[in-house]
Amino acid sequence: MPTLTYFGHSAIQLEDGKTTLLIDPFLAGNPLAPIKPGEITKADYILVTHGHADHLGDTVALAKRHHSTVIATWELSTYLEKKGLKVHAMSSGGAHEFPFGRVKMTLAFHGCGGDVDGDGDVPPPNTPIGYLINFGKKNLYHAGDTALFSDMKLIGEKTPIHVACLPIGDNFTMGIEDAARAMEFLGAERCIPIHYNTWDVIKADTKAFSFKIEKLGKKCTILQPGDYFEY
Ligand code: NI
Ligand code: MN
Repeated sequence: MPTLTYFGHSAIQLEDGKTTLLIDPFLAGNPLAPIKPGEITKADYILVTHGHADHLGDTVALAKRHHSTVIATWELSTYLEKKGLKVHAMSSGGAHEFPFGRVKMTLAFHGCGGDVDGDGDVPPPNTPIGYLINFGKKNLYHAGDTALFSDMKLIGEKTPIHVACLPIGDNFTMGIEDAARAMEFLGAERCIPIHYNTWDVIKADTKAFSFKIEKLGKKCTILQPGDYFEY
């Protein structure tokens, strides 16, 4: 059984005792992060949903330290490769069989610009994406930053989704109403909400959200930053 650890915002670690994956490792600048980037002990692969600073986060430093392979869109991969990282470029709609399992890049509707991270170094425009990850015989969907879209139905149509990590913070992404609707479209078993409470503008009522999800006959697991969950 894979273990999922939540680091706050959209940062998630998946491990199965053999391979460790990080998704959107935003730690140093993340007010909710329970650990510092230096406390990450292993990162075989880092999956990045888009180039915004709250998702790209500490990817460069972590990938250098742990010799990780970074999975990202072609545009973002090219930028990261120039920084000396080992990358695997993909594009939305494409899937690839990695030694740990299959990864499919899914659509996401969100901004595509690069963020200035303080030193004037900006990633190129890059398409935001989500990930459908088969790992430890389970399917996890990490939506990245996205609006609700009805084609989420296609993501879960042929693949039973055991866990869906969905943004609920509103303002920049789906809010709780739309994320509950997304659970219906995806046909997912369980939701783990992400991308909320990091800043005031994305504060979300997790109680109201889990009530909505349970009303749909689905499971909702609210993780505090630092909490882990075996799925
Ligand atoms: Ni974003
Ligand atoms: Mn974001």
